[in-house]
Amino acid sequence: MKTLTVIQSIRGLLIGDHRRSRHAVPKIKSVPALAAVLCFAGATLSVLFLGRPFQWWSPSPTPISSSLSAGGAGAACDPTLGRWVRDPTARPHYTNATCAFIEGYQNCLKHGKPSVEFLRWRWQPEPDGGCGELERFDAARFFRLVRGRSILFVGDSLASSHVRSLVCTLSQVESPSRSSRSAEGFEYWRFPAHAFTVAFFWTPFQVRWRLTRGPPEAVGPDRQGEVFAGPSDLHLDEPDGRWTAAAKDHDYVVVSASHWFARPAVYYSGGQVVGCHRCDMANVTALTPQYAQRAAFRTVLWALAGGMEGFKGTAVLRTVAPTHYENGGWFDGGECTATRPADPEDPPLEMAEPERDFYAAQVEEFAAAAEDARRNGVRLRVMDVTKMMLRRPDGHPDRYGHGPGDHEGFDIDCLHWCLPGPIDVWNELLLQILAGRY
Ligand SMILES: *[C@@H]1O[C@H](CO)[C@@H](O)[C@H](O)[C@H]1NC(C)=O
Ligand SMILES: *[C@@H]1O[C@H](CO)[C@@H](O)[C@H](O)[C@H]1NC(C)=O
Repeated sequence: MKTLTVIQSIRGLLIGDHRRSRHAVPKIKSVPALAAVLCFAGATLSVLFLGRPFQWWSPSPTPISSSLSAGGAGAACDPTLGRWVRDPTARPHYTNATCAFIEGYQNCLKHGKPSVEFLRWRWQPEPDGGCGELERFDAARFFRLVRGRSILFVGDSLASSHVRSLVCTLSQVESPSRSSRSAEGFEYWRFPAHAFTVAFFWTPFQVRWRLTRGPPEAVGPDRQGEVFAGPSDLHLDEPDGRWTAAAKDHDYVVVSASHWFARPAVYYSGGQVVGCHRCDMANVTALTPQYAQRAAFRTVLWALAGGMEGFKGTAVLRTVAPTHYENGGWFDGGECTATRPADPEDPPLEMAEPERDFYAAQVEEFAAAAEDARRNGVRLRVMDVTKMMLRRPDGHPDRYGHGPGDHEGFDIDCLHWCLPGPIDVWNELLLQILAGRY
């Protein structure tokens, strides 16, 4: 009984303190099972609790801004404005049988997603937008472009999914060797024949952070469960030096992480506590995740724009990839059962908070930093995937991110994306950016 009470309170922590689950507390009988829940919530899912349940489908009186310039000097068009068109001949670049780097929670084919219809759509930029068709990703062309170079992705499990999408696509041409320094949070895929390296660094906040009740330094992805339960100390005015020190060794850096800002945290600026979110500290000002996420992006984007620690390459901001929970959240039966993209003729979709504000902050902070980057001769670009991904409620694992009985707690995943799946198009956008097309 005692164990159950503890579990109940931890589950409360996981699902948000002021909420009531419609479902009973899961029958977890042992500490190992509890660890599995935390692990599941953290390591497997790397999740991102997102406030109230999603109402992504409701018509929006104010469509998400489409005025965002692609950020390139003289950019001719913005390929991120457009629509998904059905293409019955579309085939993924890789499958679960041809790529070994797909994680369990991304492996929808293995876990029996009932239809592969979600793989039969291709992104078409607006016909009158001046972009023409988006070219199908050409690995040979990509390799020619990046020969002798390396790319560093910085962020959370969604950044990791993008990395795996890219690596799986490229691995159809050359099989990479993988290595990791997982305690430090770095993973590498090397393509020696093409002299190209993909690196991933796990940091859910991108600014300096640590577990409030943990070691003085940030922890690695092996302790995501603790980070998820929080709180963490976030230094909103200091980039996470573990990756900024490594940035100069790379030609391209891609930043993105937002969702973890919804977790409990204590916020610092100038080394002083300035506020907190769900931290239970009576003498500390309550601040929102939106405040923290905006401040963190301002810090990171200005550091990149200022040529951080000798970094001379191209920095890319990949914007928020929205979740699509309907009828609840991930913890209380929310689901995403759509089998096709949202129809372009439907009213514009709206994201729920805090994602909508996270996206707006990214767009605005990018625009502010881009001016500074231009003055400093730094190439800073935005890869705005938000509007295109908002239309893909069908691309998540839903119930097919795990085998039967593999886990407890996070049954239905409308946050991560199937691999292969709609995020594979991000590589096409990346190729366009690296080729200087926008
Ligand atoms: C790939 O998915 C198929 C079902 O589409 C499944 O039978 C197979 O076991 C999976 N293989 C791997 C290596 O995941
Ligand atoms: C809040 O109060 C506690 C003691 O109750 C103290 O240790 C802590 O330093 C205070 N924090 C701030 C930011 O004043």
